[in-house]
Amino acid sequence: MLQRTLAIIKPDGVSRNLIGTVVKRVEDEGIKIVAMKMIHMTKEQAMGFYKVHEGKPFFDSVTNFMSSGPCVVMVLEGEEAVTRYRKLMGATNFKEAEEGTIRRDFATDIEKNVVHGSDSEENAAFEIGYFFSALERVG
Ligand code: CMP
Repeated sequence: MLQRTLAIIKPDGVSRNLIGTVVKRVEDEGIKIVAMKMIHMTKEQAMGFYKVHEGKPFFDSVTNFMSSGPCVVMVLEGEEAVTRYRKLMGATNFKEAEEGTIRRDFATDIEKNVVHGSDSEENAAFEIGYFFSALERVG
């Protein structure tokens, strides 16, 4: 099934010059980038994005981190893009991520894990709409 998903290169990935590496892995997988921009979220914007995690012990910390510097946000498109991109990323906890995944190769802790990806088509629709207008989604 052709799907779209929302990908973020987090502030640690941007500051460590990993934008090109992540983009190359996405493109080499045959997934298309149909929208892309760099943003610097406010704390409130990060809280809105991660509202499904409100109340969890890491909520304050992750929203501080995500608003600490610029991120690259992208809309990805391809057959089964949600699960294929999640496979490319690896597990949230990089210690559990498979070899060859972005998080296994580059993450430094459970929070500074370089990338984000939607966990379902339903959440992808919310997350894409959170950052991109219809006009910005090409392809
Ligand atoms: P992400 O896939 O963006 O979704 C929520 C983020 O919260 C997660 O990646 C991590 O960066 C961060 N986080 C920090 N601690 C945890 C935790 N214990 N479980 C899940 N996510 C965590």
